[in-house]
Amino acid sequence: MDLINRPRRLRVNSTVRDLTAEVVIDPKKLIMPHFVCEGSEIREPIESMPGIDRVSVDNLLTDLENDYKAGIRSVLIFGIPEKKDEVGSEAYSDMGIVQNAVRSIKKRMPEILVITDVCLCEYTNHGHCGIIEKGDVLNDPTLKLLAKTALSHAEAGADMVAPSDMMDGRVGEIRDILDENNFFNVSIMSYAAKYCSAFYGPFRDAAGSAPQFGDRKSYQMDPRNALEAEKEVIADIDEGADIVMVKPALSYLDIIHRVKQIAGVPVCAYNVSGEYSMVKAAAKLGYGDERRLAAEIITSIFRAGSDMVITYHARDILKNKWI
Ligand code: PBG
Repeated sequence: MDLINRPRRLRVNSTVRDLTAEVVIDPKKLIMPHFVCEGSEIREPIESMPGIDRVSVDNLLTDLENDYKAGIRSVLIFGIPEKKDEVGSEAYSDMGIVQNAVRSIKKRMPEILVITDVCLCEYTNHGHCGIIEKGDVLNDPTLKLLAKTALSHAEAGADMVAPSDMMDGRVGEIRDILDENNFFNVSIMSYAAKYCSAFYGPFRDAAGSAPQFGDRKSYQMDPRNALEAEKEVIADIDEGADIVMVKPALSYLDIIHRVKQIAGVPVCAYNVSGEYSMVKAAAKLGYGDERRLAAEIITSIFRAGSDMVITYHARDILKNKWI
């Protein structure tokens, strides 16, 4: 047959496939999330997230050391406090769980890039990401608490703070307080386009942060909207975000792609708990090959335009040499 174009030529063997691959998963671009709790010698498996544990600081350090050897350089820290209250006091306490964890990490392994999640939902007894009045989540009074939280993380040694609350104006408020306190080099990774998603289910089990009434629709984004993601991203960059995030990732690959076109700053995507647990469940049931599913999903997130990916698969990917 007279065929000039035979795309199969570049697929004939793995060497040429690797040579021409457009996306390569680079371990340095993966961020591993961790759930840290009070106490010592604690390691509690999270039922809905097989392979991920809630750990006390001592065990966290062991995990970080092992992961570092496998190639993980960046981590995202979530705190699970012992006490919750109306205003999430433990989120901005100097002796809070995240603050203690960050101090310990930086003492033992200063080379690890520590990103902290800045939000109130794990710390409030109502489970919302802000202060409540008459059933409403108040925007402006919440900003002060988020800024205090970010500052306390920076004081503990965080390299980067990641506000995930979706209040309006929080990036600017955080940038101001960090600069006033000379933390010019602490960067902000904003959860800029964060959708109100069913894919956060396992995380809320893990962190005990499910809202006790209502839902998060009055602050997280409507999954039907794409233009709004651009607006959120532009607003956050104007307020000083260094990196903008799209979350979740898999159902929002189009959003990642759009955001990448307009952002002009690095884009991060969060491959969230539900996306991770679906793969684990499929693998357990024998409906799919975990290794290939995970690698294909992470590849698609990079291909869509993300510069880095937060994923619970990071450890498995690197330890088991899936890429
Ligand atoms: C806190 C926060 C959530 C996640 C990250 N930060 C939960 C939520 O918004 O309900 C979800 C992460 C995941 O599902 O892996 N606001």
